[in-house]
Amino acid sequence: MAKYVPEPFKIKMVEPLTLTTRAERECYLKDANYNLFALRSDQVYIDMLSDSGTGAMSDSQWASMFKGDESYAGSRGYYRLMDAVKDIFGYRYVQPVHQGRAAEKVLLPCLLKEGQYSIANMHFDTTRGHVGLCKAIVKDLVVPEAHDTDKYAPFKGNMDVHAMKAFIEQVGADKVGVIIMTITNNTAGGQPVSMENIRETAKVAREYGIPMIIDAARFAENAYFIKTREPGYADKSIIEITREAFSYASAFTMSAKKDAIVNMGGLIGIKDDERLFDAVKALTVPYEGFVTYGGLAGRDLEAIAVGLYEGTDFDYLRYRIGQVEYLGELLREAGVPFQYPVGGHAVFVDAKRVLPHIPYYQFPGQALALELYLEAGIRGCDVGSYMLDPDPVTGEQPESEMEFTRLCLPRRVYTQAHIDLVAQAIVNVQKRAKQVKGYEIVWQPKVLRHFTAKLRPLA
Ligand code: F0G
Repeated sequence: MAKYVPEPFKIKMVEPLTLTTRAERECYLKDANYNLFALRSDQVYIDMLSDSGTGAMSDSQWASMFKGDESYAGSRGYYRLMDAVKDIFGYRYVQPVHQGRAAEKVLLPCLLKEGQYSIANMHFDTTRGHVGLCKAIVKDLVVPEAHDTDKYAPFKGNMDVHAMKAFIEQVGADKVGVIIMTITNNTAGGQPVSMENIRETAKVAREYGIPMIIDAARFAENAYFIKTREPGYADKSIIEITREAFSYASAFTMSAKKDAIVNMGGLIGIKDDERLFDAVKALTVPYEGFVTYGGLAGRDLEAIAVGLYEGTDFDYLRYRIGQVEYLGELLREAGVPFQYPVGGHAVFVDAKRVLPHIPYYQFPGQALALELYLEAGIRGCDVGSYMLDPDPVTGEQPESEMEFTRLCLPRRVYTQAHIDLVAQAIVNVQKRAKQVKGYEIVWQPKVLRHFTAKLRPLA
């Protein structure tokens, strides 16, 4: 029987949700051209589109915002945030920015030259985009077990260190500008990366003189998995584990919209390289604003500083990951296939197996996401072929190795009853899976099409 970890908080502010009928949802979806990003949030009952910036801040975070110092330079919040980051990550230099992709925009050009490779366990889409903007090439080298959705492995987000070494040998170390560890590995299903794997990857990076950085969006969730799954870490605190993990890297980019539980914000951390920090500051000023606010209001800096500690609290993380595991358990009991075990922030339903009659070019992950909206007003998203833009030269649709419907859990937002409803909706759709149809695209932009493309259900 699936077990739910009780919330380590109580609710003192509520946001009403709109209840809709199936007939209404059919109209909304048609008007949105079958693109879930085009729905108004009021047309959605349970919004699982992203866990990014969608969390509920605590009373302490809201209180800290009233203390926000809006000085143009040198605000108190900046120094408070610096202290928190130094304490939690053990790094000397910190640069706030407005979100994760801004951190990538500023840091990656300092590390990558045209024609070089960026190797990662897996690049998130925005990271991939910024590597491309540096005219560099991405290389994803996740361990093979990430592709077997049924197989239990404690750290399916790991880098394939052997493949990485072989790749560096093949192209030459001077051709690799950076190695990125994405923790947790979002694209593989929010799957964690072990400390051993971070250590081993860093060792190889050092051998070849390549800088290793961390995409730290979900660093605390990753530390929770290390604590609960990796031998030798059960008695270490989340912050101790975080310090060790980050000691192996030389810098990090971070979207604070996830584990710092704020609605907007990002960070760049640099361990000790003053010249790199100078380069980062030089790019931050024109892109993001002066170094002590980096695209954020003074009050936002305060909320991040508080949120970083709340996001690393063990009782919070046990509830947080417990909620995702609870949804996973309900699906497992009902025989719904998904990336197993669940990751930290979402359940990735294996749409290829739920809808085996829908070929990749009719987008099973998107079809399942749309069907869940029709069923119960739940909004998830495709992480599969629909997300992959056509080849710019041939116009051909690439086939994604995995076809997922991603259902994210915003932090501290939904209750057990909401999760029960989500599980039931998925089970209902699986029961009538054969009737679910694929989709075709009737209009798309050149890049990142899934945000704005228009679709049509196939007859
Ligand atoms: N890195 C990872 C691993 C992410 O998951 C994200 C965002 C980013 C970087 C970029 O951060 O949005 O603050 O600019 N992921 C969100 C998601 C959008 O829904 O998975 P950002």
